[in-house]
Amino acid sequence: MIPRRIYILFLVVVVLLTVFMYNISLKTNTDDPKAGSFRQILQIYHSSQETEGTVPKYHPQYISPNSNKTGNLADIYLNSKQKRPPGLNATCAKFPDFFDLQFRNNYWQLQKTTNGTFHLFNAYLDQRNGSVIRIVGTYDVHKTEETFYCQFWYDKIPRPKIVASEVPFWMFRLKWGADTAYFNHPYLITCPVVRDSGQYPISVSLVDKPCTTASNNLKIFYKHVEEKKNFVVCVKGLSFPFEDRGDRLTEWIELVNLLGAEKINFYEFSVHPNTQRILDYYVNNGLVEVTPISLVGDFSNLPLLQKEFLKKKIIQRRLQEVIPFNDCLYKHIHEFKYVVLLDSDEVIVPVENTWVELIETLQEKYPNVYSYMARNIYFFDTYLHQHDWFSDIPKHMHMLQHVYRSHNYTKPGYFVKGFHDTKNVVALHNHFPFKCLKGCTNKEIDLDLAHLQHYRADCASGVGDCKSMKEDSAMDIRVWNFKDELIRRVERTFREVDLDYSNFDYR
Ligand SMILES: *[C@@H]1O[C@H](CO)[C@@H](O)[C@H](O)[C@H]1NC(C)=O
Ligand SMILES: *[C@@H]1O[C@H](CO)[C@@H](O)[C@H](O)[C@H]1NC(C)=O
Ligand SMILES: *[C@@H]1O[C@H](CO)[C@@H](O)[C@H](O)[C@H]1NC(C)=O
Ligand SMILES: *[C@@H]1O[C@H](CO)[C@@H](O)[C@H](O)[C@H]1NC(C)=O
Ligand SMILES: *[C@@H]1O[C@H](CO)[C@@H](O)[C@H](O)[C@H]1NC(C)=O
Repeated sequence: MIPRRIYILFLVVVVLLTVFMYNISLKTNTDDPKAGSFRQILQIYHSSQETEGTVPKYHPQYISPNSNKTGNLADIYLNSKQKRPPGLNATCAKFPDFFDLQFRNNYWQLQKTTNGTFHLFNAYLDQRNGSVIRIVGTYDVHKTEETFYCQFWYDKIPRPKIVASEVPFWMFRLKWGADTAYFNHPYLITCPVVRDSGQYPISVSLVDKPCTTASNNLKIFYKHVEEKKNFVVCVKGLSFPFEDRGDRLTEWIELVNLLGAEKINFYEFSVHPNTQRILDYYVNNGLVEVTPISLVGDFSNLPLLQKEFLKKKIIQRRLQEVIPFNDCLYKHIHEFKYVVLLDSDEVIVPVENTWVELIETLQEKYPNVYSYMARNIYFFDTYLHQHDWFSDIPKHMHMLQHVYRSHNYTKPGYFVKGFHDTKNVVALHNHFPFKCLKGCTNKEIDLDLAHLQHYRADCASGVGDCKSMKEDSAMDIRVWNFKDELIRRVERTFREVDLDYSNFDYR
């Protein structure tokens, strides 16, 4: 006899086994979609049958590495044959190894100090008053009274020269709401240059103690020309990743060029592919230089995130904007007579003629003035639509179509933009110079000579009487001085880059 308990146990085991087997059979017979993943792969299988009449557009192509696109990296790292200097001695100021350099968001070289962190953008040789090196960058200490050290590196000379810097110049103002140590503050760091065996240094490392092995080594830029050209226009970081601004930008570039700009230096966060084609076109014909830039610090530079940061973090954006203004200034001090900071919705338009005649008039009328500032007047988008389109002007010519402006100007001194004499300016802010070699002398340009036309949907924040400005408009057609030539040139550009804005639904 089998004991009763063992018999019950046996029955339980049989039941459990049956349930288990039943489940397994269910699983193998199931139509669970996961089981069909092989079929899914087959569903995206492309037929190799040729579509008739297609001609391949792209061919295999080798792209040579462009050694011009290495930003602020000292050239010596790119030349494998060039011997690296060892440093001052075995324990002091060693030459930074290539892979010990620290970069953030591609364009900023990082240096930690006892009290903070530098993000360094570029270094320039400035020979306007003796010879100094100017480093444009940020430091997250407000407002530092420390001095630092420049380790200067020379071609084929084993040891660096180490020189104390001046106290870095803080390129911002307290009342603009940035007295917080946490921000990356824009600074201009100046070190007197020392030559070695008659040579100027080719690169520089910034450190807080003379013997530190740096994590940065910046190429020193210097461009000398025999005769200075007139005007370079600097445009702070373009950030239009999703909107197609190619039409507006083409008209603006051509107008600014007709007015007298011989070069336009855009700083670029990210732009729409069509805008990029326009920029590439002008880079290739030499009118435009595009300097890529990224948000300084830890934030992402994916276009959507970057754009959101620039929109919401107003103070941080304004702090960082100071970097392209001054980088552009120093890049051009020896090559151009005047630097003009403009946004791509602004243009200084004289009542007659171009900037060349305007500056001649101003220099005669106000000698010994180094910055001439134009007053701001809004050309709102909405005005047009109380009127008709001008039928002899293509609709995509925004400025030629929008010739109604507000009757009143914004207050004197507010939102002004101007011409800054490169002989004198040391540090630039958007609307005025911060610091000059011989003292900053500004003069507002008489309204019967020129003003700043500002094309916007709405006032900038902080304009008190915006409502009345919008209500009271006046026709101002001075931009038509350039009408025919401007239309011809814009059409030519669109033709050459193969873009067509004529059917775009302009409102
Ligand atoms: C780099 O720049 C130099 C000087 O501007 C130019 O001659 C050269 O063609 C450029 N090289 C490339 C690969 O673009
Ligand atoms: C290296 O140079 C530093 C700075 O001049 C000096 O203080 C130090 O004694 C030197 N060390 C050696 C090993 O020569
Ligand atoms: C760091 O900051 C403190 C306080 O501001 C200052 O006393 C000190 O000198 C700074 N450190 C260096 C290395 O300069
Ligand atoms: C010009 O250079 C001299 C001599 O190096 C210097 O003392 C002076 O401070 C400089 N001027 C300015 C405005 O930087
Ligand atoms: C324009 O400015 C004048 C003088 O400042 C002022 O009296 C007038 O109200 C302003 N007009 C409008 C529309 O704001």
